[in-house]
Amino acid sequence: MKIGIDQIGLFTPGQYVDLVEVAQARGVDPNKFTIGIGQDRQSVPGLTQDAVTMAANAALDFLTAEERDQVELIILGTESGVDNSKAGALYVQHLLGLNQWSRAFEIKEACYGATAGLQMAADFVAAHPDKKALVFGSDIARYGLATGGEVTQGAGAVAMLISANPRILALNNDSVYRSQSIQDFWRPVYSDIAFARGHYSTNQYIDFFQKVWAKYREETGHTLDDFKALCFHLPYTKQGLKALRKILPETNVDHQQSLLHYYDESIQYTRQIGNIYTGSLYLGLLSLLETSTSLAAGDTIGLFSYGSGAEGEFYSAELQPGFEEQLHGETHQQMLANRRQLSVPEYEKVFSEELPTDGSAYKADTSNEKARFYLAGIKNHERQYRDHLRGNEDAGAESAPDEPIA
Ligand code: CAA
Repeated sequence: MKIGIDQIGLFTPGQYVDLVEVAQARGVDPNKFTIGIGQDRQSVPGLTQDAVTMAANAALDFLTAEERDQVELIILGTESGVDNSKAGALYVQHLLGLNQWSRAFEIKEACYGATAGLQMAADFVAAHPDKKALVFGSDIARYGLATGGEVTQGAGAVAMLISANPRILALNNDSVYRSQSIQDFWRPVYSDIAFARGHYSTNQYIDFFQKVWAKYREETGHTLDDFKALCFHLPYTKQGLKALRKILPETNVDHQQSLLHYYDESIQYTRQIGNIYTGSLYLGLLSLLETSTSLAAGDTIGLFSYGSGAEGEFYSAELQPGFEEQLHGETHQQMLANRRQLSVPEYEKVFSEELPTDGSAYKADTSNEKARFYLAGIKNHERQYRDHLRGNEDAGAESAPDEPIA
């Protein structure tokens, strides 16, 4: 039985900053950002979007009434969680009106969370072929203004429907994974910005890739020649290229050129959006599928997932007949083109705005928020989610009795 990605959707907030302008404001040669790092623009989330709303918005690309009922597993992979106890997946379930006879929870392992969710969902479908799973990777990447990591920030979410007989990509059940406790990147619970040993993290990413790729080759007998394209976790687009270049000499020059061509197609969305952590690998996959005109059913795609801390996984999947018809390329191009450009001072202002951390109530300015699901504020320590279609009612949870909160 084939199991894999049946549908895939994308959301990114409606504002961006141009990284050439950021480079100029920081006194850096813009070529460092656009060529050395490989980023052009960066999505800038206001306080009205968080990991929950972005995930729910990403599923709107494809979710049908029938699928809402068939989903029995809802997994949110995120490292930008909004609560230390309640899973963001439950808010997403309520926002999207998903089946309540389901398991819903959140997974954290840095940028690897969505891959953990995807593999768990595939196992779930293998055990229950008539059921479906929704897996989200949704994050806001924040390092701080004028830091080394600033150019690698971003925000967005990918939603994936996992099922038997998938219409886009069937997993080949050949994962090789490795985990090891290292301090390359982390975010303590008291901080809303990440800390990274930037160059160490870059080298660890490559080291994990080389190790899982070597083991994958050994275990499966496959070589680089068996792959039409490779997709990578993309903290910035140069990172995946650095990894790819390590193994290119394993194939002939023509195939090297072809892999580089597909790599270029896989990084187009990330160049515009930035790092979206858990969803990043799948943003690369989406970019490849929606940009390329030469992929065909039966082509094998390799996927490398990396989460700092750290965990790496390499696996392969096969494109399914008619996959092109399941994509939403035009919608995504429009979403990117319709974003509002912020000047650098505007971006710095948005970046510096924070939700209260002392428990006080907060009402967000939602006048510019066009996305269907958004955060309207905080009241009684509870996030107030809204659905443009449902007006002012709380769209994130059922109404609770009016009882003092302990
Ligand atoms: N023109 C063209 N290229 C230029 C240039 C110019 N004028 N000036 C510099 N460059 C090139 C450099 O040669 C370098 O290229 P190589 O990497 O190919 O050698 C590149 O631009 C970057 O230069 P630096 O290494 O000097 O950049 P930096 O010190 O400012 O840091 C960074 C870059 C480490 C990625 C930093 O942005 C960072 O810390 N980012 C956050 C951490 C991160 O993204 N790590 C990735 C791996 S961890 C992971 O994958 C998980 C995750 O999502 C976070």
